Amino acid sequence: MSPLKADMKACLQCHSQTPEWLKNQVIAIQDRTISLINRAGWQVAVTTKLFEIANKAAEEGKKIDQKIYEKAKDFYLEAIYRLIFIVAENSVGFHNPTEAMRILADSSAFASKAEALLRTALQQAGVTLPVNVEEEIKKELPKYQNNRGQKKLIAKPEQEFKDPFGVQAYISK
Ligand code: HEC
Repeated sequence: MSPLKADMKACLQCHSQTPEWLKNQVIAIQDRTISLINRAGWQVAVTTKLFEIANKAAEEGKKIDQKIYEKAKDFYLEAIYRLIFIVAENSVGFHNPTEAMRILADSSAFASKAEALLRTALQQAGVTLPVNVEEEIKKELPKYQNNRGQKKLIAKPEQEFKDPFGVQAYISK
């Protein structure tokens, strides 16, 4: 069970601060980490969408520069593995805040570079792209979030971790 749900007892073995102080520290760290998880997550999603568009364009006979495409793919993998690592680690940055921030910032940087490369390759191939790819992704989200698995799970919007600082909503408007 999370120490947050057990009056921070696990922490009080070593810490003489109050449970409130400890809890506030955890929340401050996790809010900042969730903000960057949103950033990296959306940037990876945008890049994924551009790969989908690039693959479809190639199937339709458009010439996508393979050198640029391969470099974008390489950066995309660098981005997505960093993101998965932090999300799977499960402490939302708490166990090592500075390292979590470093990894998420690098994830965003790799995904942004992959997006720029793909936009270049697609423009060279004469493919017109939406300016706001996030809007396109939002329209498709229910397709991925609902009816998942045998139990046909439906997404609960109230359980979504939004960026507590509102930066992501501002970027993807
Ligand atoms: C085994 C002992 C131990 C346990 C258990 C422990 N900590 Fe710590 N914690 C430390 C030590 C040692 C430091 C480093 C202290 C320093 O650098 O002054 C630290 C540092 C911290 C800091 C940074 C302190 C600061 O001044 O910014 C926070 C926040 C913190 N712990 C929260 C927690 C929380 C929350 C828990 C429970 C989930 C917890 N700790 C459990 C030993 C422990």
